Amino acid sequence: MPPKGFTKVGSLSQLAEGEMMAADISGGRVLIANVDGDVFAIADACPHAGAPMSEGYLTDNMVECPWHASVFNVMTGKHREGPSRADLTTYEVLVEGDDIFVGPEML
Ligand code: FES
Repeated sequence: MPPKGFTKVGSLSQLAEGEMMAADISGGRVLIANVDGDVFAIADACPHAGAPMSEGYLTDNMVECPWHASVFNVMTGKHREGPSRADLTTYEVLVEGDDIFVGPEML
């Protein structure tokens, strides 16, 4: 049973370290990334032109947009380089056993 306000988005056993995937939650589509065993969730749509960030490239805790190479920190959503002028929204994540849940936006 997911905690109130959280949506089950997948299983830790299906998301190896260094990998990411996309999932739908009520607030939109999110990118889920496993960075050294910790799981993070950010908005999947690049603020620059809407590319699916989950189809980009994850290196350590940085994800690169597949279209024009903006780079964001998946742990904080902060934009680091490239043409985007905005950060990505981050979401709360809860891991219980093998289940990954994504909750509300982090403020
Ligand atoms: S759509 Fe992501 S950098 Fe342009």
